[in-house]
Amino acid sequence: MKQLFEVHQIGGKKLKNRTVIPAVVYSIFRNDGYVAEENVEHYQVIAKGNPGLVIQEATSVSKTGRMIETQLGVWEDAQVAGLKRITDAVHEVGGTVILQLNHAGLMSTDGVRDCPSDFSVPVMFTLSMNGKEMTPETLEQVKQQFVSAGRRAYEAGYDGIELQGADGYLISQFLNTNVNKRTDIYGKQPEQFALEILKEIRSLSSDTFIIGIRLGGFEPTLEKSIAYAELLEPHTDYFNISAGFCAIKGTSKPFKPEGYPFSENVYAAESIRKVVRKPVFAIDAIEDLQMMKNVLEQTNTDMISIGYGF
Ligand SMILES: Cc1cc2nc3c(=O)[nH]c(=O)nc-3n(C[C@H](O)[C@H](O)[C@H](O)COP(=O)(O)O)c2cc1C
Repeated sequence: MKQLFEVHQIGGKKLKNRTVIPAVVYSIFRNDGYVAEENVEHYQVIAKGNPGLVIQEATSVSKTGRMIETQLGVWEDAQVAGLKRITDAVHEVGGTVILQLNHAGLMSTDGVRDCPSDFSVPVMFTLSMNGKEMTPETLEQVKQQFVSAGRRAYEAGYDGIELQGADGYLISQFLNTNVNKRTDIYGKQPEQFALEILKEIRSLSSDTFIIGIRLGGFEPTLEKSIAYAELLEPHTDYFNISAGFCAIKGTSKPFKPEGYPFSENVYAAESIRKVVRKPVFAIDAIEDLQMMKNVLEQTNTDMISIGYGF
């Protein structure tokens, strides 16, 4: 039987156990995207708790693609030195840390709001967030921002990266066919954008550099997410299954069978793991150690995350 506290291999790295501290934004200290002393301390404290894997919070690959103004950034080379202080601090206490790469797309705080297609999300009353369709040139530019961010993460000493492809941000907007109405290859094959980024980051890093993706379990349906996982599998070391683009009712349809003991996202993780051989991480509403063990024992998932509960 799988044990929560046993060594487990993800990609080319052996992790000390099967627990994950997932990406949770904690950047409230600066508004230039640079690492503050508090960020370094925060990640060292987390790593001292001995999780198998720490996933650093969503870190923006683009200055104009930030979800909040104080978000950490990895959009320029000068940011590498600060990020390296985080990886050094985690490694000093024997931890493993990977960097979550994010672009908020339509959800960006900036006025640009790049999106695969024109798309509006109502905010309140007559207010809405209006995503603007990316031109082929912008699309290529943003793709290269992800790739350069991956290169910087490698240079900063991270053990890997996680592409934020879930929760309604830019890559989730590409994958969700209710949002992505493009007529080019990035619309006909909605996984293409993520796939090219994963491939390019692999080509500029080493075999032991973990490359994972966080995917929406219902993007917009479970069947579609399963299909994406199969297509992306050759280019990723793991899948971390979360929510899809659910900013508008009907754009993602989470469900679970009646009586299922865990959340919809855990159900999606379990369903995806039935068709892929790569490890799948379970996340969402896993509240304590006993529940982590239950998810591991009662599902086929491989790594168990605890976010707000920790
Ligand atoms: C304040 C806050 C910040 C978050 N930041 C991120 C993030 O940076 N990247 C991400 O993928 N998910 C983020 N999440 C989602 C968490 O990773 C996780 O999916 C969510 O908290 C559900 O898991 P839990 O029930 O174990 O907390 C955030 C959640 C919260 C509440």
